[in-house]
Amino acid sequence: MLSGGLGTRLRPLTYSQQKQLIPVANKPILFYAIEDLIEAGVHDIGIIVGPNKNLVIETVRSVEWDANIKFIQQEAPLGIAHAIKISKDFIGDDSFIMYLGDNILKDGVVDQVLDFENSDCECSILLMKVDNPEAFGIALLNDNNEVVKLIEKPKNPLSNLAVIGVYLFRSKVFNAVEEIKPSNRNLLEITDAVQWLIDHGYKVKSTLVTKWWKDTGKPEDILEANRLILDDLDPETSVKVKGKIRGRVSIGKGTKLNENSVIKGPAIIGRDCLIKDSYIGPYTSIGNNCKIINSELEDSVVMDGVKLVNIGNIIDSLIGRDVTMEKNNSLPKGNKFIIGDSSRVRLE
Ligand code: G1P
Repeated sequence: MLSGGLGTRLRPLTYSQQKQLIPVANKPILFYAIEDLIEAGVHDIGIIVGPNKNLVIETVRSVEWDANIKFIQQEAPLGIAHAIKISKDFIGDDSFIMYLGDNILKDGVVDQVLDFENSDCECSILLMKVDNPEAFGIALLNDNNEVVKLIEKPKNPLSNLAVIGVYLFRSKVFNAVEEIKPSNRNLLEITDAVQWLIDHGYKVKSTLVTKWWKDTGKPEDILEANRLILDDLDPETSVKVKGKIRGRVSIGKGTKLNENSVIKGPAIIGRDCLIKDSYIGPYTSIGNNCKIINSELEDSVVMDGVKLVNIGNIIDSLIGRDVTMEKNNSLPKGNKFIIGDSSRVRLE
């Protein structure tokens, strides 16, 4: 499981957080992947950690998993194939699944694992048709649907079949990662490692995925993943609250709403929040210990400890931990900001 990397496209959130720990429907993205592995019968998990190693270890250890979890330090983000290289001692001669911790797959990986175990392939990859193939590793298939070529983020893509961040391997891949050279972005690319297997005559199988899959590399991907997960929300509303609740809404213990507040699902609100005179609209996730007062939110992810007061209407937004946004009428008038490096703000 890969949970390293710098997550540059998600700054400023990733200055203080590992991207795979960003919550989607109030759960770190990485946890969806761990759950998928356990569901598929994988009980020995090695997590590759990078710059925010301690945060990842602490967050993963805060939950009791039905798996032995070890952490493997990647000294620098040198590519996905490099992560395989440094996992050799952990994996030994076993076949294994590599899951990029920022990927979320609707259908999990149970079928994929079973299928691979019953095959004689050296590698199995998952593919999905996408509208923006230049953002992914891309596969070219021949007339028999066999993978003949993989290209990493091509400028002029010859196919729209993106390689999903879940790969199954037998041990020949360790030869591949020793042989391939760094790409022009100076990374050991996973696409090059799989290409090496194809070029050396090993069987590489591919399966087309039709249900949704999301690589959560950019802010809009996190919001999209949040929508997709909330679409399947199984609401827990054991907590008695005031306010008008419509649709599927999950509300955590200790959260209070006043009568003027309206929540329209699908939405999730964490523990110990105060929602006063506010509207929480569809596809919104609010973490724990948040205060939302006289504000409106839709299609947004709000992390723990956020305070929003008199803020008007917020849409399509990602708000990091412990952020305060408030509007007051003191003079002199004017917007006042303390915003972290690389933040993005759009005012109406
Ligand atoms: C990585 C791989 C790419 C793959 C993608 C899936 O890209 O290099 O081949 O299609 O994951 O999520 P990254 O998102 O790390 O740029």
